[in-house]
Amino acid sequence: MQQRAALVGTGFMGWVHCEALRRIGVVVAGVLGSSQQKSVAMAEQYGIQNAYANYDELLTDDQIDVVHVLTPNASHFSLCRAAIDAGKHVLCEKPLAMNSDQSAELVELAARHPQLVAGVNYNMRFYPLCIEARMRIQSEDLGRIFHVHGSYVQDWLLKSTDYNWRLQAEQGGSLRAVADIGTHWLDLVQFITGHKIVAVCADLTTVHPTRERPLGEVQTFADSTAAQTEPLAIDTEDHGHLMFQFAGGATGSLTVSQVTAGRKNCLRFEIAGSRKALAWNSELPNQLWIGHRDQANEQLLRDPALLTQTARPSTSYPGGHNEGYGDSFKHAFHAFYDFLNSDRQTAPQQATFADGHREIVLCEAILASHRQRRWVAIPDDGR
Ligand SMILES: NC(=O)c1ccc[n+]([C@@H]2O[C@H](COP(=O)([O-])OP(=O)(O)OC[C@H]3O[C@@H](n4cnc5c(N)ncnc54)[C@H](O)[C@@H]3O)[C@@H](O)[C@H]2O)c1
Repeated sequence: MQQRAALVGTGFMGWVHCEALRRIGVVVAGVLGSSQQKSVAMAEQYGIQNAYANYDELLTDDQIDVVHVLTPNASHFSLCRAAIDAGKHVLCEKPLAMNSDQSAELVELAARHPQLVAGVNYNMRFYPLCIEARMRIQSEDLGRIFHVHGSYVQDWLLKSTDYNWRLQAEQGGSLRAVADIGTHWLDLVQFITGHKIVAVCADLTTVHPTRERPLGEVQTFADSTAAQTEPLAIDTEDHGHLMFQFAGGATGSLTVSQVTAGRKNCLRFEIAGSRKALAWNSELPNQLWIGHRDQANEQLLRDPALLTQTARPSTSYPGGHNEGYGDSFKHAFHAFYDFLNSDRQTAPQQATFADGHREIVLCEAILASHRQRRWVAIPDDGR
């Protein structure tokens, strides 16, 4: 069955979702921006049939089956809640909500509507070599997992003149670098290893306590030079260092930064097991490093013919034809829509609202650990 989707949000994620949905044959039938002018501009640019004036128009449009929530974080909760109440499937960009009270409410709401699919877009899961790493760990190729370390670093907020809505806690949340990008790493390594993080110890730093905010809207990754600015006090972190304990005994560490010059969007992980290690870098996503103790190390190039059978469907192009960021959305949406159209008897590969909620619980523990200068256990509220 062919679903029809509507996009809410016309910024960076608006066009990324639009393009990826079309690549898998989902009709993007409508769009809503923060004003009707923006809805119309995106509809014209991308040839989308309906440009809505407001959210009610979208939710009462019977043609729409799935709502993609692609707005700044502060509006995710109310947009997701209204979409489910209106009987629409939802795919929400991360993070699911601003706090765990909101995300818990969404988990309960989704549970009361089991006919609807409610997901959170942790697209990093869907890089083919991340699926390959997961499959190798599931088949015990690495042996017992000892530790996981890595980083997620960027430079687009390096200067005090760089500005985005994420810098303001009321729009992005009280955690910024960790909740914006660190959350991808946290979700990814738990997805790959199959081990939940059960305790954290965090140290966070704000290097620019004051930034210059441009007067007017700034889109994600846009050039920061603006004619008129005003000073803005910043209380969210620019970088942080985290330590973890995983269920099952493994330990881990993560460095997150939005102020590392030269690193544009670089997620790295290294997983050390009793037989082998694996390492991957999102800026070179078609290579998986396999570390050995008693033989030469290997570099696996993404090639469907060389992947384990279960990982093969996660890649579309032959070896040497590189896949990247945009393809991860395509594969993520395949997983979401295939699950939607299945008998739903096997667990979905995409993150559910329960996964999104757990990420928020984890982020709250990270902030508590930083503020209290101590290890904090992650509460397991059974969701
Ligand atoms: N999965 C990923 O790789 C990834 C990457 C970037 C952003 N994100 C997430 O996607 C979301 C959007 O981020 P972005 O980078 O696209 O931001 P952006 O600022 O580029 O775009 C947000 C858009 O939403 C619009 N908007 C605001 N409120 C709205 C409302 N109530 N209704 C309709 N439109 C509204 C704004 O006008 C803007 O055009 C965030 O939650 C972010 O965390 C995910």
